[in-house]
Amino acid sequence: MGKDVIIACDFSSGQKTLEFLDRFGSKKPFVKIGMELYYAEGPSIVEKIKLRGHKIFLDLKLHDIPNTVKKAMAVLSRLDVDMTNLHAAGGSKMMAAAIEGLTKPDGTRPLLIAVTQLTSTDSETLKNELLIGTPMAETVMRYAENAKNSGLDGVVCSPLEAEAVHGRCGAGFLTVTPGVRFADGELGDQKRVMTPADAKKAGSDYIVVGRPITAADDPAEAYERCVREFIG
Ligand code: C5P
Repeated sequence: MGKDVIIACDFSSGQKTLEFLDRFGSKKPFVKIGMELYYAEGPSIVEKIKLRGHKIFLDLKLHDIPNTVKKAMAVLSRLDVDMTNLHAAGGSKMMAAAIEGLTKPDGTRPLLIAVTQLTSTDSETLKNELLIGTPMAETVMRYAENAKNSGLDGVVCSPLEAEAVHGRCGAGFLTVTPGVRFADGELGDQKRVMTPADAKKAGSDYIVVGRPITAADDPAEAYERCVREFIG
């Protein structure tokens, strides 16, 4: 499994996204399409970006009853993306159903990655609102194990958790890690961050990088810098 830098294309319209990708010339970075863009533009934005030759991580974080997730995944599978995701909180049956729905008639499927606990959920919320008394770190690791046991390929996590996830779920279980910043860059609203070089040392398999690239004066150069630091 090749390591890669995934650009979070958090734009509000297809036009803005395509104009942004035009700035990369013949380079075709792996891109993440999230809810905002997908809900604004529908499946056609996925098809357009795919046609330009990019790999796509479709970040829609599905979470529903197993039958609904299975059917939704079957629809997403036809878009021929490279990676997609769901909430591990949906449980093992939902995750197994998702794999079934995602698998094409020829037996292939996109990588399926689980979100464990959102980084916006803090320990207080976990305990007082979700009524989960187990500490956050252990909850995240258990959700990762559930995902692995359900046949998923990896989890979205902080680069700070990548080593522990690999320790618990095996080196081949993928860690897809946002929260990446250049040593001399702005943090924005991210609190616990690592540089691409440190994420590499921590064993991240894919780093997801948004604003350090999308808000840069020269996005193609910022992307190349990420690739140089993360892949070498
Ligand atoms: O701009 P920035 O580099 O912070 O973007 C990070 C991307 O990763 C955003 O699309 C954000 O929604 C996503 N993400 C995250 N933290 C998580 C899960 C996803 O930052 N725990």
